[in-house]
Amino acid sequence: MNIIKKLTASALVVLGLSTSGALAAGAYDTHIEDFDFSFEGPFGSYDVNQLQRGLQIYTEICSACHGLKFVPIRTLGDEGGPGLPEDQVIQYAKNFEVFDPELDDFREAVPTDHFPESALENAPDLSLMTKKRAGFHGPYGLGINQFLKGMGGPEYMASLLTGYTGEEKEQAGVVFYENTAFPGGWIAMAPPLYGDDVEFADGHDTDLHNLAADVSAFLMWTAEPKMMARKQAGFAGVIFLTLLAVLLYLTNKRIWAPIKRKDEA
Ligand code: HEC
Repeated sequence: MNIIKKLTASALVVLGLSTSGALAAGAYDTHIEDFDFSFEGPFGSYDVNQLQRGLQIYTEICSACHGLKFVPIRTLGDEGGPGLPEDQVIQYAKNFEVFDPELDDFREAVPTDHFPESALENAPDLSLMTKKRAGFHGPYGLGINQFLKGMGGPEYMASLLTGYTGEEKEQAGVVFYENTAFPGGWIAMAPPLYGDDVEFADGHDTDLHNLAADVSAFLMWTAEPKMMARKQAGFAGVIFLTLLAVLLYLTNKRIWAPIKRKDEA
């Protein structure tokens, strides 16, 4: 193949890919609301109270169907997470029963166990869901919105929970609910939240929008529990590299100073 042919061929491949990408992105008209989360931005951090409220919502509502099988219960006590005191973590573990292969029977969970798997077969595990789904794309599959607003995993989650229109349809014996955030527009999960579904000990607002944001923040933590440590390490790295750049600049000036002076003479 001569060079021109090669170039045309690769140009066609690139064009083909990008148009199919644009089509895929435009196929569903989903709506993702840009929620304001405390952990956004380079200095953002999880709001401990919000994570604790989200944990409560997950426990009282979502865990009836969904699991968090990758999350060890003890991490609820970790710094940067919901930060429950040790006695509360032990108490919390007792909410769940896990299968113990040594006993060949179910027993009460302890902090070293993981959260149980999904109880309902077709309900996906939520441990990593906020990192698995992207809320923001485009334009034209370029990912510019992801660059400006972030991946949008927790925004997708919160928009899904607030995106029910109230329409239902039955197909082959399964009821589907219309949802403006779900790709395809119809989801098999009945609206899990309506607002005022839980009661918080501190009397925090329980309207639908807040509940959706709280549980989404908690599920962002399950998917990325070390976010704070990662941001701190990144920040230290940037400071270190800035100092290094300044020192290298000064060293460079010092090393070349005699030669530059000779040039001027
Ligand atoms: C009565 C059972 C039930 C409850 C309670 C429930 N869900 Fe679901 N959920 C499902 C089922 C079933 C699906 C799969 C739906 C589908 O694929 O159409 C699902 C799917 C999901 C998805 C995946 C959407 C996607 O992009 O694939 C998320 C996220 C989710 N649920 C979050 C939650 C949250 C958060 C709660 C608690 C506030 C919750 N669910 C409560 C049954 C439930």
